[in-house]
Amino acid sequence: MRLRNVSPDDVDAYVQMRCDPVMMADLGGPQPREEMAAKVRRDAEQAAADLAWFKMILPDPATPEVVAGTVTLWSHNTNDGPISEIGWMVLPQFQGQGLGKRAVRALLDQARDENRWGVVHAFPATSNAASNGICRSVGFRFVSETDMTFAGRIFKTNHWSLNPRTDLT
Ligand SMILES: CC(C)(COP(=O)(O)OP(=O)(O)OC[C@H]1O[C@@H](n2cnc3c(N)ncnc32)[C@H](O)[C@@H]1OP(=O)(O)O)[C@@H](O)C(=O)NCCC(=O)NCCS
Repeated sequence: MRLRNVSPDDVDAYVQMRCDPVMMADLGGPQPREEMAAKVRRDAEQAAADLAWFKMILPDPATPEVVAGTVTLWSHNTNDGPISEIGWMVLPQFQGQGLGKRAVRALLDQARDENRWGVVHAFPATSNAASNGICRSVGFRFVSETDMTFAGRIFKTNHWSLNPRTDLT
């Protein structure tokens, strides 16, 4: 497994992930296909400027054209002030092989090594067993159940947090 920055050429992978109703069931529903090129471009610019970490997951470095998913770490404002948040997606044909967990762990290792981002938060849907499994097995601590608004809808999520300097298992 290897991580690399998203590039403007990753439109197909974004479409497979973000325009798919099953992949997006816990993330506000599928997004319009015609918006993906601009979204990839914005993410690639932010990644290149090191403003946020938008990483593509490559299952096998020997075949770098094969992308299994994404893992993202970014900072944003909330009513309680700015927080660092991590999110992830793994395409169906690559799920259940430990790739999501290894990718999340690799990005958190990088955060620890660069002493960046502070405490990292995650908000998987309460019903998303695999995402909550990632949080549990990487070393996140459960904070509380929290209602989150995505795309105008309210979702029940589990709030998890982790300090990469002290909590990685
Ligand atoms: C959630 C998702 C990223 C998981 O990726 P994955 O590569 O399949 O997960 P992994 O194989 O790394 O498994 C991670 C952990 O969860 C557990 N797990 C995986 N699938 C599970 C399931 N369906 N039910 C219960 N636990 C599960 C694994 O056993 C593992 O824990 P362990 O290390 O203690 O054994 C992937 O299913 C996905 O992208 N889903 C659609 C989009 C999405 O929901 N994104 C996240 C929104 S918060």
